[in-house]
Amino acid sequence: MAARGAPMATGAAPGKVILFGEHAAVYGRPAIAAALGSGLGAVVQADAAGPVLHIPAWGQNVRVRPDGTGGFESLSKAFAAALGLAGLDTPEARRVGVTMDGELPPSVGLGSSAAFSVALLRALGQWRGRPFSDAEILEAAFALETVFHGSPSGVDHTVATLGGCLRFERGRTPAYSPVAIAVPVPLVVAFAPRESAGRQMVEGLRARHDALPAVYARIFDAIGEIAEAGVAALAAGDLPRLGQLFTLNHDLLRACGVASAANDALVALARQHGALGAKLTGAGGGGSVIALVPGDPEPLLRACVAGGYGAFATRVDAT
Ligand code: MEV
Repeated sequence: MAARGAPMATGAAPGKVILFGEHAAVYGRPAIAAALGSGLGAVVQADAAGPVLHIPAWGQNVRVRPDGTGGFESLSKAFAAALGLAGLDTPEARRVGVTMDGELPPSVGLGSSAAFSVALLRALGQWRGRPFSDAEILEAAFALETVFHGSPSGVDHTVATLGGCLRFERGRTPAYSPVAIAVPVPLVVAFAPRESAGRQMVEGLRARHDALPAVYARIFDAIGEIAEAGVAALAAGDLPRLGQLFTLNHDLLRACGVASAANDALVALARQHGALGAKLTGAGGGGSVIALVPGDPEPLLRACVAGGYGAFATRVDAT
């Protein structure tokens, strides 16, 4: 706890769900992503034993040092990069302790690394006395995301920075535009442990793509068309169409080889319990599935828990 009146800086960022277009986004096709109600918050305080970053929600032992001596390789590299990007370079300036907390589960495809990056940068910007602008956050958080993900499309940190529901296209300027949503979209998010890191899922698909580029280009084009049809369905408030598009997008992600048995099992469970459609969200290989459930979400939530999965109900608000 901070001593009363001790200087303190804070930053926060939401997690995200990708409604359409993950993986194809890496290849320049549009992705539609929305901020989640849950996210991460960072608090920076003076700490003579710093720099150190503690994430109690992810485990009491998650204490990260930027020199890597505490383990947690990606987190420590990202922490070091964030201190550098904030200009906290001198030994005195680096005497900071950061506590990161929140309800966003890590490593299940809900954008925890992007929320981590954006919340940390916002808090460090405030700590140094010159907050980052959103444009600066977008650039700096992308640099941190490359530490976690190698060559990310940028969709995760863009939504973590700007919030709302966005249509994102890598390589476009501007890369994002707001998506109009006529009616709230009721979702159940269900998740299983990741079997492979997001980075491995992206790299695995890259290898398969490079061996058969024309075939994968057609699959990515189809995913892009589904994303465009999804934008139209969101604008029209057409939930049955949205559900149909979710399931179609999932089936193409299966074709890409990124859906695990747990992802498929959760999609099937969702459809047996009143979902209009369901798909994996994020990188796949385990992690999260989103199900469009306009009625009572309880039967599906109970079935997920009975199956040993994590699950919560949420919604994407109308805009
Ligand atoms: C991860 O949330 C989304 C992916 O499309 C990777 C990326 O866009 O960088 C799988």
